[in-house]
Amino acid sequence: MNNDKIINEYQEYQDKIGSRLELYRVVSQKFDISSALYPGCHIDLSPSLVIPNVVYVDNFKGTINFFKHINQIKAFINEHKEYKEECEVLFFGQDYTHELVVEPVDLIISQYAGFVGQATKEYLKVGGILLCNDSHGDATLAKFDDDFRLVGTIDEDYEINHFHLEDYFVRSEGKPVDLMVVKTKMKGPSYSKSAANYLFQKIK
Ligand SMILES: C[S@@+](CC[C@H](N)C(=O)[O-])C[C@H]1O[C@@H](n2cnc3c(N)ncnc32)[C@H](O)[C@@H]1O
Repeated sequence: MNNDKIINEYQEYQDKIGSRLELYRVVSQKFDISSALYPGCHIDLSPSLVIPNVVYVDNFKGTINFFKHINQIKAFINEHKEYKEECEVLFFGQDYTHELVVEPVDLIISQYAGFVGQATKEYLKVGGILLCNDSHGDATLAKFDDDFRLVGTIDEDYEINHFHLEDYFVRSEGKPVDLMVVKTKMKGPSYSKSAANYLFQKIK
């Protein structure tokens, strides 16, 4: 596959999912992120445009084929990146629940790919950030995990909110959150107040 095809594939995917570049930019600037792990990345390369060292993990055949063109991918990133140093991009074509050979990172990205935060938190530095949504219930599991503390939310305006965090993950009429149901259905429950994305800090 030539360079154009690979980059077109990435750009078409960005058009489909809506670019998350601003999301990754805001988070990396706020928390001074220089390394990240992105399990279940598919071909969302945008973190590498704002974070110098990113490890991508996905076991889908199409993604594995895409990342075979790592030199073209790096050339594209080096041309468009927003930081000074050369980019470092690593890809593991494997199940992220299996052991990963990864140094602890500043940020874990969890977007529509299952219980990423739970499966990979051992690779997050203490003080590091889990950026996740609740599409599959990953944010709910982090909220009820003593290893994490909710430190912010982000909506479509890409502004990080640090206030009234106690209002999130509250069900209407005092209904309890059943984590077994979340794990079985792989879906976050409905809450009185929710956000597009959540930021959890690993505290131990
Ligand atoms: C719905 S896509 C989301 C892709 C990307 N995170 C995004 O938001 O654009 C889910 C991706 O997670 C990957 N995935 C799901 N479970 C996985 C696992 N246990 N190990 C590795 N990859 C996984 C799938 O192969 C797929 O590429």
